[in-house]
Amino acid sequence: MAILPICIWGEPVLHTRALPVTTFDEKLKTLVNDMYETMDAAPGVGLAAPQIGVNLRLFVWSYADQNEAPARGVAINPELWLEPISPGEPDEEEDVEGCLSFPGERFPVRRSERVILRAVDLDNKPFEFVATGWFARIMQHEYDHLDGLIYVDRLVAPHDRAAAKAERKNSWGKPGLTWLPGVDHLEG
Ligand code: NI
Repeated sequence: MAILPICIWGEPVLHTRALPVTTFDEKLKTLVNDMYETMDAAPGVGLAAPQIGVNLRLFVWSYADQNEAPARGVAINPELWLEPISPGEPDEEEDVEGCLSFPGERFPVRRSERVILRAVDLDNKPFEFVATGWFARIMQHEYDHLDGLIYVDRLVAPHDRAAAKAERKNSWGKPGLTWLPGVDHLEG
C-alpha cells in the first residue's frame, strides 16, 4: 500500500472525462487500496482516481453517517441519478464544500438532496443505493471528478471570483502540481 500524491487544480487529468474501467485484476485492487490509504491520510471523505493522476472512472468514499450504503466503499463505472436541485443561492454554511485537489479552500455550492448511485465493485458485481444529505453531496462531488469537473467549476458569483483569486494566490492552474498527504499539511 502507498500514499499517493494528489493532483492540484490545473493538472490536465483533473479536467478531462475519465475512461471506463475494463480490467478487474490485482492491479485495480492495488489502486483502490492505495486510494483508501491516500484518502485516509489526507484526510478526506472521498477520493476519485483522476485526483491521483489515473484517468479511470472510479472513486472511494469513507463516511459513517448514512442509511443504506456501507461506511466505506468503492464505486467503479458509476452512474448517478439526481433529484432536481432546489433553486436558490447556495447557503454559505450548509452548502460549503472542499476538495483535496483545491486544498485549503472552501466554497458553497448547491447540490441535489437525494441521489441514486449505481456502480460495480472490485469483482465487477453491480450494486446500488440511495444517498441523501451530506452523503449525497459526496457522491455528486466524486462523480463530478470522473467527468473532469471540480466543484469549483460549479460556483456562482461571487464565489467563482473568490475561487479564481485563490487559484492565482496559490499559483495553481498549471500542469504538474501535487501535494502528498502526511508530508505536506494541507486541508481538503
Ligand atoms: Ni474533490
